[in-house]
Amino acid sequence: MGSLQLKSIRKAFGDHEVLKGIDLEVNDGEFVIFVGPSGCGKSTLLRVIAGLEDATSGSVRIDGAEVINTPPAKRGIAMVFQSYALYPHLTVKDNMGLGLKQAGTDKAQIEARVAKASGMLSLDPYLARRPAELSGGQRQRVAIGRAIVREPKLFLFDEPLSNLDAALRVQTRLEIAGLHRRLKATMIYVTHDQVEAMTLADKIVVLNAGAVEQIGSPMDLYNKPANLFVAGFIGSPQMNFISSERLPELAQTGVKTIGIRPEHIALSRESGEWKSKVINAEHLGADTILYLETEVTGLLTVRLFGEHRYTADDIVFATPDRTSLHRFDANDRAML
Ligand SMILES: Nc1ncnc2c1ncn2[C@@H]1O[C@H](COP(=O)(O)OP(=O)(O)OP(=O)(O)O)[C@@H](O)[C@H]1O
Ligand SMILES: [Mg+2]
Repeated sequence: MGSLQLKSIRKAFGDHEVLKGIDLEVNDGEFVIFVGPSGCGKSTLLRVIAGLEDATSGSVRIDGAEVINTPPAKRGIAMVFQSYALYPHLTVKDNMGLGLKQAGTDKAQIEARVAKASGMLSLDPYLARRPAELSGGQRQRVAIGRAIVREPKLFLFDEPLSNLDAALRVQTRLEIAGLHRRLKATMIYVTHDQVEAMTLADKIVVLNAGAVEQIGSPMDLYNKPANLFVAGFIGSPQMNFISSERLPELAQTGVKTIGIRPEHIALSRESGEWKSKVINAEHLGADTILYLETEVTGLLTVRLFGEHRYTADDIVFATPDRTSLHRFDANDRAML
């Protein structure tokens, strides 16, 4: 039980409007990810949902009931922040149980719920330790455990993994995916990490300057971005944008910009459509990313699978996959 509906959420700090009318439906059990540039209002929106920030206007419904005047503790929400904010003098076990203790939950119940969460998060060996005796990843798991024991209707995560190193991020990301499957709880999760967004989300919400640009499944956003902003935001390296004036043969009437993802361009030393010079080559092992100066299109990023021995100043020929082009009109909207 944890559906959420936002209607026309507006939030201003003074005369600076940070959220400009957000509408969103989250189904029970869904994993929804908010992405968008720094300062676009992701954390503010989470805080409005949690009740930590009052909206200037609009409606927040949880399981159909209006909660806009309900205090945070009564909304059935648990929030996990980037900074774990654990109590340094309490053990892992007491950190996890503290919220329940403060809510007057009886001791046996607290014991049982902490034990269950601890098992789920592989924290059993650490229950007697204090936060200073844990790694960053273990501390983050304790913060998640503290949210789980409250059995909320809705979990809110604000960049929970951004303090972790790369390997631990992957591990914790998989744990969160597993946790979502087991708990079947509704989760809303803010991240700057493309891979987290693409792999965890049932639904991604792309925010820009306080407004929703597009809502859709990861593959919808990747394959059918609604506009230039989403096309450029989802996918790494970024989609190439080329003015249609440079490519009249690929542009139908009304097309202002043509988009081509770096992974949809083939490269050859012998022949192809666009003669180019390699400006820089990034050899990542699994992938090779090439930055080209191309006679027809200007700068072009190309992503090849595996290792390719191109280096700066090589002359190559780039050929776009014509079935994977994106076309945008003068208002930067995708044309179908
Ligand atoms: N309490 C506040 N008073 C005034 N302005 C605020 C306050 N909190 C946030 N803002 C402003 O609101 C805007 C949105 O902030 P918010 O923290 O929601 O962004 P964000 O999308 O979470 O960014 P980031 O990705 O950097 O975390 C920013 O311009 C920020 O400066
Ligand atoms: Mg934020």
